[in-house]
Amino acid sequence: MEEERIISAQEQKSDRSWDLTLRPQSLVEYIGQNQVKENLAVVLEAAQKRKEPLDHVLLFGPPGLGKTTLAYIIAKEMGVGIKVTSGPAISKAGDLAAIITNLQEGDILFIDEIHRLNKTIEEILYPAMEDYALDIILGKGPSAQILRLDLPKFTLIGATTRYNLISSPLRDRFGLTFRLDFYNEEEIAEIVKRSANILAVNIDKDSRKEIAGRSRATPRIANRILKRVRDYAQVKADGNISFDLTQKAMDMMAIDRYGLDDLDRRLLQVIAENFAGGPVGLGTLAAAVQEEAGTIEEIFEPYLMQLGFLARTAKGRIATDKTYQYLNIKKPGESQNNLFS
Ligand SMILES: Nc1ncnc2c1ncn2[C@@H]1O[C@H](COP(=O)(O)OP(=O)(O)OP(=O)(O)O)[C@@H](O)[C@H]1O
Ligand SMILES: [Mg+2]
Repeated sequence: MEEERIISAQEQKSDRSWDLTLRPQSLVEYIGQNQVKENLAVVLEAAQKRKEPLDHVLLFGPPGLGKTTLAYIIAKEMGVGIKVTSGPAISKAGDLAAIITNLQEGDILFIDEIHRLNKTIEEILYPAMEDYALDIILGKGPSAQILRLDLPKFTLIGATTRYNLISSPLRDRFGLTFRLDFYNEEEIAEIVKRSANILAVNIDKDSRKEIAGRSRATPRIANRILKRVRDYAQVKADGNISFDLTQKAMDMMAIDRYGLDDLDRRLLQVIAENFAGGPVGLGTLAAAVQEEAGTIEEIFEPYLMQLGFLARTAKGRIATDKTYQYLNIKKPGESQNNLFS
């Protein structure tokens, strides 16, 4: 289902073909995330001046905000190679050893979804990150011996959407941690402008703003919507994107002015109505809307919380006054009069 959802922040197969063209290649091209960029620029320059590899970097934040993009940019700015893998792709110690021993001095090892590394692999990473050493255990039981291999000085960049799932020993080994936040509307509009430029399509300012407003503050979604609107303009008109066309295309995609679709509304509705506004536990909520708890936590909630349409408390999820206003329904225990006061 996520596969067809236009406003899913998760990467979809159809994104990949144009992802490379639209992906910024340098820090200057990377729009928004100003604090992260400023800090990065300083540490990049310092490392280059010292002719040392960059400290290990942990990037975290909701999907589609530019973590992978940033990892490639860091490699490019440092002028080093980058090897890319992911937590679930490294299942055996040997997999990791093969990758790490093949790195060149200064290279970057990018591990996406680093929260999904298994414990054994994680433990191999500790000495690799700290001492650039790989401990290989020979034999089993009391007679087992540890052989220590020296590794080239490398930089590990880990990316995750689930910071709280990363163990603290692993967290502690990253010298630099950057959190990517949702973008503001002007930044997304700027990203749409840049992407339209690359795709060589004309789009007016109002349309850029309109797309930005419905993109859940997420560059990946903005680019996806832009592409859909471009298709629409090509089929229904001369290919130029006007405001009128943008609005029609958006209606067709059933994305409302907050960037929410039926799935979001159903989730909010269940909390607001079926559970009287909450608090409702994640597991219970997941069962009620028939989605996986992880999906709700990672995909739905961050943006709904950003909008103030949902809050997390120790006891569970709750609907807010804004939720009721948005859904245009009465809050339990509130008189009809109150609603309009
Ligand atoms: N700051 C930015 N400026 C311009 N475009 C951006 C920016 N950040 C991301 N993008 C665009 O959004 C797309 C998605 O970004 P990216 O793949 O880096 O997200 P991610 O955080 O790695 O997502 P995931 O958590 O799913 O791995 C990129 O291909 C790029 O085109
Ligand atoms: Mg990524």
